[in-house]
Amino acid sequence: MLKRLLNSDPILRILEVIDRRSENRMTEFGMLAQAFEFAKINGISGDYFEFGVWRGKTFCYARKMARRYRYGPVKFFAFDSFEGLPSVVNDRFEIWRAGQFACSSEEFRRILHRNGFSPNEYELISGFYDRSLNEELAARLQTQNVKASIIYIDCDLYESTVPVLDFILDFLQSGTILCFDDFYNYRGLPGYGEQRALAEFQARNSHVRLFPYMPYSPLGMSFIAGLGSEINAEMVG
Ligand SMILES: C[S@@+](CC[C@H](N)C(=O)[O-])C[C@H]1O[C@@H](n2cnc3c(N)ncnc32)[C@H](O)[C@@H]1O
Repeated sequence: MLKRLLNSDPILRILEVIDRRSENRMTEFGMLAQAFEFAKINGISGDYFEFGVWRGKTFCYARKMARRYRYGPVKFFAFDSFEGLPSVVNDRFEIWRAGQFACSSEEFRRILHRNGFSPNEYELISGFYDRSLNEELAARLQTQNVKASIIYIDCDLYESTVPVLDFILDFLQSGTILCFDDFYNYRGLPGYGEQRALAEFQARNSHVRLFPYMPYSPLGMSFIAGLGSEINAEMVG
């Protein structure tokens, strides 16, 4: 009887969640903890960008970790359509569908409020990336001297990751941590999804180096940015 109960689907699901959250595994939460501590130890100031926020699970956790590691001042930028995924050109893996992960901006703000955010701590940038991540937005943020210290990319699709990577170029600094939540999706194959978008971005931008940092959760991978002449110590004398 007890054995049957322990092997039942609800119990196995609870155990799976506990295991995922345990310190035994490098989860997305663990990744954010490492990223904020890395930024703190290295004295890298800047803001938190998240592309693909859905109902705010990782976004709220980022704030928690910033507070835990006494990291700041930091503003939290949420970039999302707030209508879910755009229309999807399905490849042979057929993982996604348009509208998946929809959460309105009003509901998202309520979630942030419940999780302790005050309105001046965050900014929502609403819209599909091919339109919202435009020159006007880049210019406005640059005027405000915004730089990113941690960038969390969780927008699932190759087509969504391409404009995100082009947009963040202006906000990178040496030491910015980039986390890709779905890097090893598509069976880990490099010709798909975030992995493909990143390889193409690197081919277009040889002045930006991305040094592997930590794999996390089943599909995630993180990198540390290095820019131009800062990458190597200058030899003097
Ligand atoms: C898997 S969910 C994000 C999960 C979230 N990080 C969490 O902690 O639960 C993917 C999100 O990416 C957003 N998204 C994907 N492609 C997008 C695009 N092209 N433009 C705007 N938002 C997009 C979706 O609206 C969705 O909220």
